[in-house]
Amino acid sequence: MASAAHAQRPAHVPADRVVDLDIYAPPSMDEGYHEAWAKVQAANPPLVWTPRNEGHWVALGGDILAEVQSGWEQFSSRVIVLPKSIGELHGLIPTTIDPPEHRPYRKLLNDNLKPSAVRGLQGQVREVARDLIARFRDRGHCDFTEEYARIFPIRIFLAMVGLPESDADNIRLWAESMTRPEPEIPFDEARQAFFDYLDPIIRARRDEPGEDMLSAMLSADMGGRSLDHDEALALCTQVLIAGVDTVVNFLGFVMLALARKPSVRARLRDNPSGMLAATNELFRRFGLVTIAREVREDVVFHGMELKQGDMIAIPTVVHGLDPQANPDPLSLDFARSRPRHSTFGSGPHMCPGQELARSEVAITLEEWLSAIPDFEVAPESDLTCKPGIVGKITRLCLQWSTS
Ligand code: HEM
Repeated sequence: MASAAHAQRPAHVPADRVVDLDIYAPPSMDEGYHEAWAKVQAANPPLVWTPRNEGHWVALGGDILAEVQSGWEQFSSRVIVLPKSIGELHGLIPTTIDPPEHRPYRKLLNDNLKPSAVRGLQGQVREVARDLIARFRDRGHCDFTEEYARIFPIRIFLAMVGLPESDADNIRLWAESMTRPEPEIPFDEARQAFFDYLDPIIRARRDEPGEDMLSAMLSADMGGRSLDHDEALALCTQVLIAGVDTVVNFLGFVMLALARKPSVRARLRDNPSGMLAATNELFRRFGLVTIAREVREDVVFHGMELKQGDMIAIPTVVHGLDPQANPDPLSLDFARSRPRHSTFGSGPHMCPGQELARSEVAITLEEWLSAIPDFEVAPESDLTCKPGIVGKITRLCLQWSTS
C-alpha cells in the first residue's frame, strides 16, 4: 500500500508545508505508534503536505482533522485509502459513498448495531472472553495477540452473522491484506476473495433468511427496495473488515499499557462498574485508524489552497493526542472531564460499530482483571509497531504468577 516514490510538490502547495512523512511509517515508530504520531504532530503545522504515497495533505491538528472527516460537503469519501491509485479500487459500501446516497445504507447498519442490539449480545461476548481466558489462565502466560486478540472479535462477529468459526483464518488474512502496507496478498485480490467467499452465502441467506445480522441486512427496506447482490457483497465485506482488525489491534495497545502500569490496572480493577465509561479514555489515548478524504472543489482551507482531487490523510490518532484538545495527552487519566478524540471518526461515517467495540473492550477488561489481576510483558513479545490503515503491535505476550 505504501509507496516510497516521491510525487512532485504541486505549485499550490507552499514549500514550508512540505514534510517528508510516510503515513504508513512515521519516524520514531520504535518509541511506539502513538508516541511517534505525537512527535510528528508537535513538530509540524496542523496541515502539511507530503510527497509520499503519491503526494497528499495530512491533517495533524485535532480540530482540523475532525473538520475534514466530518465535512462531507467539501471533503468526499469517494477515496478513503492512500495512495489514491489503490484507494480507487476500494469501492466498499458505505465508506466510499457520500450523503445523501449514504443515508439508507447507514440506516441499515445503525438498525443492526444500535445499543439495544449490542446489549442483546453481551452474554455471548462475555462467554467468549471467559472461554479464551480459561484456556491459558493456569499456564501463567499467553501470546495475547494470537491466543486472545485475533480470536475474540472474529468469534463474536462470525456468531452475529451466522458464519462458522472455521472461516476465521481466511477472513483474517483477507481483512489484514486490505489494511496493511505490505499485504500477504494484493489489495484487489483480497477484496475479490471476500466477494467469492460471500457470494454463495448471500444467495443462500436471501433464499432462506435466518435470525442473524446478515439476513436482517439483506431483507431490510432501503426505501422501497432491498440491497442488490453487488451492494450486499460490498457492504458485508466492509463490515467484516471494519469490525475485525480494529478491535484486535486496539486490545493490543490497551493490554500493553496495562501490563506496564500497575496503577492503571488497579484503577480499572477497583471500579468494575465504571469500566464502560473508562473505555472512552482508552479510546482517546489509543486511536489507530488512518484514512483519507478527497477534496471536492478548489477551496482555501485554514489558509491553504486545496485543489479538486487533492487527497488529505486523516490519522485519527492525532486528535486524542492533541494537547490543545486534551491536556497531558499521553497520560491515561480516567477522571478527564471530556476526553476529545476521533478514534471512531466523526460526521456521517462515524463508526456504527462503536457500541459493540466499547462493549467488547469493557467485557475483556472486566473478565481479564478478575481472572488475572496482575501481569507483565513477557520477553517473547515483539513490540515493534506496524502502521497501516489500522496501527498494530506485532506480538504481545503476557505473563503472570499462578500461585
Ligand atoms: C476499536 C474498534 C473500532 C475503531 C477504532 C473503529 C474506527 C472507525 C472509524 C474511524 C470509522 C470512520 C471511517 C471514515 O470516516 O471513513 C469507522 C467506520 C466504520 N466502522 Fe468502525 N471501528 C471500530 C470497530 C468497529 C466494529 C466492531 C464494527 C462492526 C461491527 C465497525 C464497523 C464499521 C463500519 C461498517 C464503518 C463504516 C461506516 C460508514 O461508512 O458509514 N467498526 N470505524
